[in-house]
Amino acid sequence: MVTILAIESSCDDTSAAVLRDNVLMSNVIASQKVHEQYGGVVPELASRAHQQNIIPVVDAAIREAGIAKEDIDAVAFTRGPGLMGSLMVGISFAKSFAQALGKPLIEVNHLQAHVLSHFIASPPTPLPWERGMDRPNLSHPSPMGEGSGVRPPTFPFMCLLVSGGHTQILLLRDHFDMEVLGQTIDDAAGEAIDKAAKIMDLGYPGGPVIDRLAHEGNPDAYRFATPQIAGYDYSFSGIKTSFLYFLRDRLKEDPDFIEHHKADLCASIQKTIVSFLLKKVERAALDHGVTQVAIAGGVSANSLLRSELQRICNKHHWQAFIPPFKFCTDNAAMVGIAAYYKYLRGEFADISLPPYTRSLTPQPPLLSREGV
Ligand code: KG4
Ligand code: ZN
Repeated sequence: MVTILAIESSCDDTSAAVLRDNVLMSNVIASQKVHEQYGGVVPELASRAHQQNIIPVVDAAIREAGIAKEDIDAVAFTRGPGLMGSLMVGISFAKSFAQALGKPLIEVNHLQAHVLSHFIASPPTPLPWERGMDRPNLSHPSPMGEGSGVRPPTFPFMCLLVSGGHTQILLLRDHFDMEVLGQTIDDAAGEAIDKAAKIMDLGYPGGPVIDRLAHEGNPDAYRFATPQIAGYDYSFSGIKTSFLYFLRDRLKEDPDFIEHHKADLCASIQKTIVSFLLKKVERAALDHGVTQVAIAGGVSANSLLRSELQRICNKHHWQAFIPPFKFCTDNAAMVGIAAYYKYLRGEFADISLPPYTRSLTPQPPLLSREGV
């Protein structure tokens, strides 16, 4: 049995998790509220908040797992892609901790981690705090429970990875054999959703707000053109622009147009983006003869994306793999599961490894076309 401590700090969530083999023992997330007032993640503030959060979060993850730090066999960390300052906090901590414990390090690619979250298993017995022990007093603890323990996909399967920074259709032939079939040529899907929300002044991150408001709106109220992009690639910058111009015109006639039609606007833009995403996924799965389709990343928390994927899979008698909400947005559990499979392969990291952002990347060879 191998015990892994995993750290995730690539963007604005500080997270630590403990896994015993593929079983999740704890997954603590401290989300940074400080960015809301700026309408987006401020890198400088993110790294400062990581610095404040990292030790209490790791401490809580170890306590919640009911282990001693001496039980840890390896320390895993997200190496990239992400914000340089944010990554450096997690990486420096992981390196020092591993060095102090005399244990090996495992580097994890954030995108691979999102996809591999489908392999996280839940513990067979209740965790200490589920047995009545007080939970550590963290502002944003992440409950475990639902969803995990579901049978993971088998290879090959397809995964739509959709987050604030990435949009890719991946074909997985093995845990680390991920072929990028298509990806966005400009904005990520989450970025487009967040920008639409920003235009409507709905706060940041806008994805969950649009999702919530869309429930009360008519998804066919307005149509926004989707671009013709070859193959399985995407483009979202045009959708965002057409949304902006549409509103600019309407606001000339009615300055309160957004306020009066907020739910319909949310439902319509959400439907536009989700339909565009899934049309290509469906095509890719048909073309590749794949019968298992997964979603991963922050946008996979979207209720329409989840229900539409399920509908499409039912139509074709395919199997849909929809992650529990707690594994959609950034978390260290997914880093831990990726690290577990690397541990089994004997893939350990050198203490001198630097982080990589999107642009400065020595690209990991297993994601063939990653890194736009
Ligand atoms: O994976 P993630 O936490 O961070 C990145 O790696 O980017 O994804 C964050 C993204 C944000 O764009 C956020 O608006 C979006 O996921 N998101 C959603 C929902 N929940 C989070 N988008 C649509 N509907 C949601 N329910
Ligand atoms: Zn992410």
